[in-house]
Amino acid sequence: MLDVTPMHPLFVGEASGIDLTAPLADTDRDAIVRAMDAYGVLVFHDQFIDDAQQMAFAAAFGPLETSREADRPGHKMRLDVHMADVSNLGIDGKPLPPDHFRRMSGLANQLWHTDSSFKRIPATYSMLSARAVPDSGGETEFADCRAAYDALPEVMKARIAGFVAEHSIYTSRAALGFTDFTDAERAALPAVLHPLVKTHPGSGRTTLYIASHAGAIVGMPVAEARLLLADLMEHATQREFVYRHRWRAGDLVMWDNRATLHRGRSFDLDAVRDVRRTTVADSAQGAVPLAEAARSV
Ligand SMILES: [Fe+2]
Repeated sequence: MLDVTPMHPLFVGEASGIDLTAPLADTDRDAIVRAMDAYGVLVFHDQFIDDAQQMAFAAAFGPLETSREADRPGHKMRLDVHMADVSNLGIDGKPLPPDHFRRMSGLANQLWHTDSSFKRIPATYSMLSARAVPDSGGETEFADCRAAYDALPEVMKARIAGFVAEHSIYTSRAALGFTDFTDAERAALPAVLHPLVKTHPGSGRTTLYIASHAGAIVGMPVAEARLLLADLMEHATQREFVYRHRWRAGDLVMWDNRATLHRGRSFDLDAVRDVRRTTVADSAQGAVPLAEAARSV
């Protein structure tokens, strides 16, 4: 039976009582959903699962995302197409060379973001399993976007109500100087629109939906939009809203992308960090592609 112990004053629970290597009972699944609605992030320790078990666990919560690496011509993937390889390793199991596109996109994970906000169908849950971690660094930080929204001044809540932000993966990559993408890659992931303020469906609480992927707000000059987005990000990631997870091998951390932000922290990229993610697609809430929205104006 699921037992949850708070790990932070606002969110994040340590979950125990469920063996994630075994098929998930419906009652346990429902208990995890309720706990996720309350905590936003659950930390399971000592879950030495393999990829098949991780995919089966994730699939209990909805359709799995397919890795974007699969679209890269000529690229050989280390993991199944339903696993996001968040490691710094190549198919030979060794750390990637400095100029490898996966190493560069891994660096962009060190910017605050929510997974897949740049996709037409964004993500509900992500589950990250630590198979091997470096001795130091490589932590993941999470920020509580529901608490951050609650703490906004009323004048700011009134200002941003109804705002719609434009998200693109190429915005977060460009922030780090990575612009080396083909036209086909850019065409495959056009910018999408999301409300800046959303209601979290499980809890009914209001939340900020922001990410380093967001680079514009509909109807606002870009410079003003970027300053507002930067202000909101700075607000939401103040220390009081942040939990830092120091990984141990065997940890599986599950988070709700609709209620939290996260970022990886730096580590020695020549050390092995083998972390693998499964991601559940939010089949209930698709974003509006920018091009489609523009046509309807
Ligand atoms: Fe992420």
